[in-house]
Amino acid sequence: MTKTAPVLDIDAILDDENTRIIVCCGSGGVGKTTTAAALGLRAAERGRSVVVLTVDPAKRLAQAMGLTELDNVPRRVKGVGSQGELHAMMLDMKRTFDEIIEAHADPERARQILTNPFYQSLSSSFSGTQEYMAMEKLGQLRRSGDWDLIIVDTPPSRSALDFLDAPERLGRFLDGRLIRILMAPAKAGGRSAFKLLNAGFGIVAGALTKVLGAQVLKDIQMFVSALDAVFGGFRQRAEQTYKLLQAPGTAFVVVATPERDAIREASYFVERLAEERMPLAGLVINRLHRSPAPALSAARSTAAAEDLESRGEHELASAVLRLHAGRMQLAAREQREQEHFMSAHPTVPIAHVPAMAEDVHDLDGLREIGDLLAS
Ligand SMILES: Nc1ncnc2c1ncn2[C@@H]1O[C@H](COP(=O)(O)OP(=O)(O)OP(=O)(O)O)[C@@H](O)[C@H]1O
Ligand SMILES: [Mg+2]
Repeated sequence: MTKTAPVLDIDAILDDENTRIIVCCGSGGVGKTTTAAALGLRAAERGRSVVVLTVDPAKRLAQAMGLTELDNVPRRVKGVGSQGELHAMMLDMKRTFDEIIEAHADPERARQILTNPFYQSLSSSFSGTQEYMAMEKLGQLRRSGDWDLIIVDTPPSRSALDFLDAPERLGRFLDGRLIRILMAPAKAGGRSAFKLLNAGFGIVAGALTKVLGAQVLKDIQMFVSALDAVFGGFRQRAEQTYKLLQAPGTAFVVVATPERDAIREASYFVERLAEERMPLAGLVINRLHRSPAPALSAARSTAAAEDLESRGEHELASAVLRLHAGRMQLAAREQREQEHFMSAHPTVPIAHVPAMAEDVHDLDGLREIGDLLAS
């Protein structure tokens, strides 16, 4: 028996003025950016004032949306119908990090941090920085109050959960033992109670100097003590953004392709959202394969092809029958993967989007995906 799931009513979500934030997440390459952009366009054409925050869109899609400059601010997308408005931006992770530093440290401090080599590598390569900065940008867009709907695409990480883990991980790093040890001399300021700690620091610093080299250690120390000024702010804002994600006006849309790994990731993510009390709208199953002739089973199609082949007749017809059989088998496999999800999460609404013949790289393509999402 084939299972069915409740239908994810995309238009009801987009039209509901209480929906203020939609977060598209899922594992790598499943269609998060495409879905986010398609939802944004559809919402705008249904009359809402929307901003889409994309992360690493494919080049042609970025161009279609007018995202030719990486300037970290939203730009109006041309070619959008109706009275709504669509703005889009590409996340510039390094720039977002710089902006936080500039906003929260005095100019001299900011300069010290921004030019510090340790900061430069942290801001562009620390795992989780991109996820953290996407959240940070979301917070900024929300505080600006300029849009009534913000749609957030999430970074291309292997695991969808990285997005939710990033603030905690960055916080843990900044709060971590190594950092605390490195900060000790700056904080102690010569007070006797910290003498012991300082002695400890001397030993640790000695060992670290051997491993890292004196200059690197000095960079880290300078960075950390300068960052101290901005420090509280990081955690506080991460917590605020977390609260924003839990608010009733937020809707998480989890995207997956109908493949085992992607569906499994989607399952983990759905469970995690429940644990975090974050509102899930539903699951989008993207790039589904269907056959134009579902009444002809794979087995019958294969048998007919074998028959023709054994008689050495109608080569083209037998090739088509084989192709059809392959598609039917793929469709059946995809159906089974979906059913795993449905048995584990029978109440989660689902929307389906078929695999298109080619990549989605312009507004027409996005509009079509939007129609399919809502149908
Ligand atoms: N339904 C679809 N049919 C055909 N192609 C699609 C479909 N959905 C997405 N694509 C294409 O698949 C590719 C990956 O999609 P997209 O960039 O949206 O995925 P992503 O989840 O954002 O990836 P990443 O994790 O790398 O950020 C793109 O080239 C896109 O045009
Ligand atoms: Mg993407």
